[in-house]
Amino acid sequence: MQEAGVNLVSLGIFSWSRLQPGPNEFDFEWLDRVMHLLNEGGIKVDLATATASPPPWLTHQHPEMLPTLADGARLWPGARQHYCPSSPVYREAARSLVERLSARYKDHPALVMWHVGNEYGCHVAACYCDVSAIDFRTWLRARYGSLEELNRAWGTDFWSQRYSDWEEILPPRQAPTWPNPGQCLDFLRFSSDALLACYEIERTVLSRVTPGIPITTNFMRFFKPLDYWKWAVQEDIVSDDVYQDPSEPEASSLESAMAGDLMRSLGQGRPWILLEQTTSRVNWRPVNVPKRPGQMRLWSFQAVAHGADGVMFFQWRQSRSGAEKFHSAMVPHGPVESWPAWREVVQLGAELGRLDALCGSRVPAEVAIVFDWESWWALEQPSKPSANVRALEQARAYYEHLYRANISADFAHPEADLKAYKLVLVPNLYLVSDAAAAGLAAYVSGGGRLVMSYFSGIVDPADQIRLGGYPAPFVELLGLRVEDFAPLAVGETIPVRFEAGQVATGQIWSELIRPAGAEVLARFEAGPLKGEPAVLRHTFGSGVAHYIGTTLDSIAMGALLEQARMEAGVTSVAALPPGVEAVRRQGDSGSFLFLLNHQDAEVEVEAAPGLDALTGERIEGGRLRLPAYGVAIIKEDLAEGQ
Ligand code: GLA
Repeated sequence: MQEAGVNLVSLGIFSWSRLQPGPNEFDFEWLDRVMHLLNEGGIKVDLATATASPPPWLTHQHPEMLPTLADGARLWPGARQHYCPSSPVYREAARSLVERLSARYKDHPALVMWHVGNEYGCHVAACYCDVSAIDFRTWLRARYGSLEELNRAWGTDFWSQRYSDWEEILPPRQAPTWPNPGQCLDFLRFSSDALLACYEIERTVLSRVTPGIPITTNFMRFFKPLDYWKWAVQEDIVSDDVYQDPSEPEASSLESAMAGDLMRSLGQGRPWILLEQTTSRVNWRPVNVPKRPGQMRLWSFQAVAHGADGVMFFQWRQSRSGAEKFHSAMVPHGPVESWPAWREVVQLGAELGRLDALCGSRVPAEVAIVFDWESWWALEQPSKPSANVRALEQARAYYEHLYRANISADFAHPEADLKAYKLVLVPNLYLVSDAAAAGLAAYVSGGGRLVMSYFSGIVDPADQIRLGGYPAPFVELLGLRVEDFAPLAVGETIPVRFEAGQVATGQIWSELIRPAGAEVLARFEAGPLKGEPAVLRHTFGSGVAHYIGTTLDSIAMGALLEQARMEAGVTSVAALPPGVEAVRRQGDSGSFLFLLNHQDAEVEVEAAPGLDALTGERIEGGRLRLPAYGVAIIKEDLAEGQ
C-alpha cells in the first residue's frame, strides 16, 4: 500500500457476519489488528459500518426482514443487500452494530471517515412487503394529513380507486395494468426516503459518538431510485462510484465528466471523493473489457478535474473466492510487479501525492443544467405521449455540447437559486413545482438566459396536469403556447428549417406551437406541422428564453447552444482538438488547468505558461505534447491583477 501511495483505506464494508457471528457474539479482534497495522503504516481508515449485507443468522431468525418485489416474490439471502429498508428488525440490528463499532473505534488514531452502508439501493431500491406498506402509510399520513387530501392528489376517482380507510392503501404492487401514477410517484419518493432513514439511523449514532469524523455513503452517479439532492445534504462528503466501460471509451469519458459535475453540484461545489473505480476489468458486464494502459490514470484525473479531492479503488486485493473474483483490483491474483496496471497504480499514487495544493479548490461554472429526480421519476412512468422521452438522455443531449466545448457546468435543483449563472439549461422538466416555475421565470426576467426543451412544465408535484394550455407555468416566460403534442415514431425524423437557411432534423418529438410574443427561429418543414414553429426565442423582462419543440440533431443542437452561450457571455476553458478535455479548478493556492487527452493517439495542444503540477517542470507556453490518454495539470501563471 505504501508503494502505491495509499493513504486511505475503506475497511470492512461487507464484514457484518465476521464482526457479529451471532446475536450476542462480537469479534473485533481481527479488525483491531488491521486498524493497528494500517495506523502503524501511516495509512488512515474510512471505516465502514458494515451494514450492507446482513449476516445469515439474522435473516434466519427474522425472515420477515427480507425484501419483497412488486409481484410478491420474496428475495432470499445468499447474495447481499437482502433487507427490507423499512424493516424495524434490520434497522435496529444495524443501529446496534454501529453503536458497538463506533464505541470501539471512536478514539482510534487511524479513523478519519465513516462509510455508511454501501451503494444504498443498488440491488434493492424498494420493498413491497406488508411492513413496507405500513411504513408507506405513515409516510403518506405525514405528507397529506387526511385521506381526502390523498384522494385528491392521486385523483382516485379515476378507475374507482377512492380510498375510505388508510388500511386499504398498498404499495403499487403488480396490478392488471398501470397502477395509479400519483401512488407510484409517492412510492418512489417514499422508497428513496426509507433508505435514507436507514442511513440516517446510522448517521445519528456516528455524529453523536464521533462528532468530528466526516460521514459519507457512496453514490452511483445518476442513480434513478435515490433522490440524491435529498441525500447529499445529509453527508459531510459526497462520494461516488464510477465504473467506465472501456469498450465505449468516448461515451464513458462523457458520462464520467457528467457524473463528476453532478457530485460536485450535490455537494454545493465542495470537493468530493471518487470512492470506487477499478484498475482494469469489472465482472458484471456480459463481456468485461480491460482498461487500456493509461485509461485508469486518465479517468482518475478526470474525476479530480471535475472536483474530486480523493481517488480510491474497489478493491485492494483481488479475491480468490466469491462472486467478484474476476473483478480487477489493485493487487491481482498473479505477480504484482509484472502487471502493468500495478505500475499505473503506483504512478497515480505518487502523482496524487504531489497535488496537495489542489485540495479544496473549486470548479467555477457559468452554466447550470436543471436536473430533478422527481421529474425524472414522473416522466418515465408509463402511459405518456411517448416513452422515448428519457430524462437522462435529454440532459446528456445538452451536456455533450458543453463537454466538447470545454465549458464547465453545474447541475442544479429546479428550486435552486440560479442568479450566479449566466446560462441555465432545462433539458426537460416534465414535473415542476410552483416555486421552481416562479424561480425560473424570475431568473430570466432578472436578466438570465435560459434554454428549455419540450414536455416541460406539464404536471405539478402530484403528477396532475397543469391546466390552461401547455406548458402552463412557462407560457409567459416562453411567449408561446403548445396546442398539441405530436410525438414521432421510432426512427422517424422531421426536417426543421432555421430562418438563416440551414436545415436540421428533429426526432422523438414534435408539437403544435402557437407563438404569443416569441420570435420563431426555426420551423418544421414537412408533415402535418409543416410551416409551424419548432424553435423560438423570447425576450422576457431583461432576459431571454429559448424553446425547442423537438430533439434536434446534434449539429443543430450544438449550434443553438453555442449561439445561446455566446449571447450569455459564457466562456470556454480552452479551445482544443476533439477528444481533448480542459477543466479548470481554482482555489487559494492558484488556478489549475487540466488537459485530458481521451484519445488513443498523441496530440499537440496550445498551452498557457505555468508550472506542470505533476512533474514540477516549467511550461513556457506554446505547444504541449500530450501522449495517448495523457494528462497535464498546469498551475497557471496569473496575469497582473488576477
Ligand atoms: C460496487 C460495490 C462494490 C463492488 C463493485 C463492483 O461499487 O460497492 O462492493 O461490488 O461495485 O464493481
